[in-house]
Amino acid sequence: MPQAYARWLVPAVFQPFAVDLARRASAHAPRRVLELAAGTGVLTRELVVALPHAEVTATDLNEDMVQAGRLLVPQAAWQQTDAMHLPFDDARYDLVACQFGVMFLPDKPAAFAEARRVLTPDGTALVNTWDTLDSHDFQRALVAALVEVFPDDPPTFMGTVPHGYADVDRVVSDLEAGGMRCVAVDSVTLEGHAESVAGLAAGYCTGTPLRAEIQARGDLADTTAAVADRMVSMLGEGPVVGRMAAHVVEATPAA
Ligand SMILES: C[S@@+](CC[C@H](N)C(=O)[O-])C[C@H]1O[C@@H](n2cnc3c(N)ncnc32)[C@H](O)[C@@H]1O
Repeated sequence: MPQAYARWLVPAVFQPFAVDLARRASAHAPRRVLELAAGTGVLTRELVVALPHAEVTATDLNEDMVQAGRLLVPQAAWQQTDAMHLPFDDARYDLVACQFGVMFLPDKPAAFAEARRVLTPDGTALVNTWDTLDSHDFQRALVAALVEVFPDDPPTFMGTVPHGYADVDRVVSDLEAGGMRCVAVDSVTLEGHAESVAGLAAGYCTGTPLRAEIQARGDLADTTAAVADRMVSMLGEGPVVGRMAAHVVEATPAA
C-alpha cells in the first residue's frame, strides 16, 4: 500500500497541500516539529526543506508507512506512533502538523488534547482536512466510478473518512474541546496534476484503505481496471488537472 500511495497519489493529490502547509509552518520558525499521520513523508520532505535548522520528528500509526517514509525522507526522525497516544514529553514541540490525518482519528478532541500537551504554551498546531466530496474532482470521480462498479453496495471509505470531517465548525469545536484556540481557518483550493487517470485509480484502489473494501467485494485487479475505465470516461485519460478543496486550520494552546 505505501508504494502505490507514494507513486500514484502523493504527487497528484497530497504534494500541493504539503507545500501549502510547510509554507505556513515556516512562518513560525519552529525549532522542534512533530508531524502526525505523516504517511510516506510528503509533508515531512517539505518541512525539512523549509526548516533546515529544525528538528523534525515524523510519526504514523502504520509501521509500513513509517518504513517507507524513513527511506524517502531520512533527514527526519521517524517513529511508529498512534496520534491518540503520543509518547513524548509535555511541551516538547513548537509546532505540531498533521496533513489529512485527523479524519482517521476515532476521538478527535482527545487527539487534539494530546497535541496540546506536547506543544509549548505558545506553540502552533497546523491541520488540514478535505472539504466535501463534490469539491474534489478526482475523488468525486472515483466515488462515482465505484457506485457504477458496485451499484448495490458501493464502498463507503472515501465519503465517510477522508471527506467525513469536512464541517470546519466541527473541526474548530473539536480543537476547542481539546484545549486549543483557533487562530485561523482558511479554505484552500489547489490544482492536482495527474499524469494518468488509470494511475489515480490504481493509487486509490490499491494504496488506500479502499483496497480492503474492494477485496471484500471482488477481485482487486479487475475492480481497479473497471474503476480506471469509468474514471477515464469521466476525466479523460490524462494528463489531467483536478480541483481539490481543503480547510487549513491553525490553532494554539488555549490559555
Ligand atoms: C491520507 S494519509 C495522509 C498521509 C500523509 N500525511 C500525506 O499527506 O500523504 C492518512 C494517514 O493517517 C495514518 N493514521 C491513521 N490513523 C492514525 C492514528 N491513529 N495515528 C497516527 N496515524 C494514523 C495512516 O496510517 C495514513 O498514513
